Amino acid sequence: MVPRFWWLVSIGPMKTASERRELLKAVYQEGRVCVECPLHETRTNVVFGSGNADAELMFIGEAPGANEDLQGLPFVGQAGKLLEKLLGEIGLERGDVFIANTLMCRPPGNRDPYPHELEACQHYLFAKLELIQPTMICTLGNFATKLLRGEPTGISRIHGQAEVRTIGPRAVRLYPLYHPAAALYTPSTLEMLQADFLRIPEILRMGPPDQPEPSLEAPPPEDSWLEGPPPEDAPPAAPQEPPPAVRDPPPADSEQLGLF
Ligand code: URA
Repeated sequence: MVPRFWWLVSIGPMKTASERRELLKAVYQEGRVCVECPLHETRTNVVFGSGNADAELMFIGEAPGANEDLQGLPFVGQAGKLLEKLLGEIGLERGDVFIANTLMCRPPGNRDPYPHELEACQHYLFAKLELIQPTMICTLGNFATKLLRGEPTGISRIHGQAEVRTIGPRAVRLYPLYHPAAALYTPSTLEMLQADFLRIPEILRMGPPDQPEPSLEAPPPEDSWLEGPPPEDAPPAAPQEPPPAVRDPPPADSEQLGLF
């Protein structure tokens, strides 16, 4: 399958931070009315992510919970409060980093994400990476860690071990951490999370890893033939369905997006 935002792969370093921020807002506009997986039927709000659109450090959690679904912002419940506290202990606040999730919509009852939901949402995550261009990504918990590493190794084996990984179009310093929700009620997990957190500044000081060569041969968008004449054997075009209605999309300004 051709990734939806494939055209971002080659934007490279020539875009300024403000150009990347504007593109991020364009991706947000698309994301906030996304109907690409069934979770759009049960969500209240899309949780695109929030924070500094030019952040060096990005956190990726699992999926929005009830509070996040209501407010349209990530990590606003108890786990979010702990995340803010841990950030404070290394001299950072939410506005310094960008926080997102593997899924932008809440799975009903906070169940685990399904593979087809992760797949449908993945191109949004890659677009965020390409536009924010973080040096370092902290995955929070098993789901984000397994997804971004593309391997089944669990968080208890690899938390606190930084490595350079190419994720979608970019190489980053990937740093798996326990999920703050897991640390809320388990003191030993909290201790490990705190200790791992304290190493973040030292890893950030290593600077960005070398980037892979951008591919000059970006694949064409899936429906590119629509712009030209259809191929001889193409079936006649089906009548266009109006897009399904989406309930109460949030306002489109950057306050709601939480960009600083
Ligand atoms: N847990 C997550 O993984 N993400 C959120 O946004 C909130 C709680």
